[in-house]
Amino acid sequence: MTQAASHIHDRLLIIDFGSQVTQLIARRLRELSVYCEIHPFNRVDEAFLKAFAPKAVIFSGGPASVYAEGAPMPPAGVFEMGVPILGICYGQQVMMHCLGGKVEGGHGTAEFGRAFVTPTAQKLSILDGWFTEGDEQVWMSHGDHVSKIAPGFEVYGTSPNAPFAITADVSRNFYAVQFHPEVHHTPKGTKLYENFVRLAGFTGDWTMASYREDAIAKIREQVGDKQVICGLSGGVDSSVAAILIHEAIGDQLTCVFVDHGLLRKNEAAEVVKMFRDNYKIKLIHADESDLFLGALEGVSDPEVKRKTIGRLFIDVFQKYANQIEGAEFLAQGTLYPDVIESVSFSGGPSVTIKSHHNVGGLPEKMGLKLVEPLRELFKDEVRALGRELGLPQSFIGRHPFPGPGLAIRCPGEITREKLAILREADAVYIDQIRKHGLYDEIWQAFAAILPMKTVGVMGDGRTYDYAVAIRAVTSVDGMTADTYPFTNEFLGETMTRIINEVKGVNRVFYDLTSKPPGTIELE
Ligand code: XMP
Repeated sequence: MTQAASHIHDRLLIIDFGSQVTQLIARRLRELSVYCEIHPFNRVDEAFLKAFAPKAVIFSGGPASVYAEGAPMPPAGVFEMGVPILGICYGQQVMMHCLGGKVEGGHGTAEFGRAFVTPTAQKLSILDGWFTEGDEQVWMSHGDHVSKIAPGFEVYGTSPNAPFAITADVSRNFYAVQFHPEVHHTPKGTKLYENFVRLAGFTGDWTMASYREDAIAKIREQVGDKQVICGLSGGVDSSVAAILIHEAIGDQLTCVFVDHGLLRKNEAAEVVKMFRDNYKIKLIHADESDLFLGALEGVSDPEVKRKTIGRLFIDVFQKYANQIEGAEFLAQGTLYPDVIESVSFSGGPSVTIKSHHNVGGLPEKMGLKLVEPLRELFKDEVRALGRELGLPQSFIGRHPFPGPGLAIRCPGEITREKLAILREADAVYIDQIRKHGLYDEIWQAFAAILPMKTVGVMGDGRTYDYAVAIRAVTSVDGMTADTYPFTNEFLGETMTRIINEVKGVNRVFYDLTSKPPGTIELE
């Protein structure tokens, strides 16, 4: 059974029936400063409900039909808890099914996409702020529909294909809608959630200041007087985790920053300076560039590169960690999206956990217990926590940088010469982006050095030098990406600067590829 974490905040439970957009419900609620957790329907039972003690419950949507064999059902006892419940799409259907209503499939009443809901005569508190200018746009995505509402329920909104678009049993505080308020195509969706949580008595106590305090207390309780080691990559997640843990246990934390020789210009020095000077954190700067670059000599296959780097990373981290006497814990910057259990209808819930490139497999190998103070946070909440902890915006807003570093921005064989050229070209390119005020509009931008030399002419002479590619993308989560549309002036100026300022480059390509079909990195 899923563990319910202990918390001092008011808590809302989202029971997941497998919708693609369940995470968005959590996002909307967190934006309203409401603490919530998503748990799959088949990992929640009466004992769990009791331990979790939610102040309200939301049933998510889902792809199943309530009348299908083995259809997902809410846990026993949930309707008797006396807390407000909101059912969304399948959540509405399952609520009606359980409480004595009726659900039917197909017959031309499936609805996918925009629809307009018309209010009925009666007012409903969760609809405060709705229908101010007539019908409201909502997003529908359902095959089945409710054909008879359960006893005690009334209708508060209808759409052409969903006569029971909005229903409620106000006396029991049960609310059920056929559409998805969590998606942007339901413009007043957030308002509905806001009304619902207010009605349930949430005060918006989920703030980063309270989270910080709570997390510090928990880390102290978990770690006691033992030692913790933390692999720092210089990225936002591991940095925020380290600073938070340091605030909790001070010198019981030692960070290990493995420099694999594949970092950007000045990166190692900046990371070390920030942690040592500003935070006085015990930090081992493991300069192992000779080891990594030696092992990568002659390697041009992308997968072999990644595996080599991953393997050495673990060896090196372990070597340094072994020097820290009494280390019992390993800190990781795991985030909430990495630990949400997703509903799988074929084989029960499946856990998707990102395998961190830098410490994967280490905890078991070294017999270490994990400290993961960010495992309840979304990425933007980690940034907010970083701000709360005083990290500069320039650091918090940094573009993602991959674990294997410049190795995967140097297709073909990696040489020290190519890395040196790449560092300079990347620094000029990023400087250009910052100077033009574009850095925060772009999700990720970097230069890559291509595995070829081309002919050029500079002054009166012929040149034969490397070609560099510049890449910039917009994205939400890195899963898909669009090319950032630079102006011709920007591109021309950038090309001139790179060729003038970086020795060894005589040609600049602009990578136009979106993802898919490309990936963000070149390898
Ligand atoms: P791709 O190239 O797969 O990258 O489109 C998607 C996002 O993931 C980053 N990336 C990595 N991050 N270790 C990491 O920590 C890796 O091995 C790795 N490979 C890709 C990439 O920079 C982009 O943000």
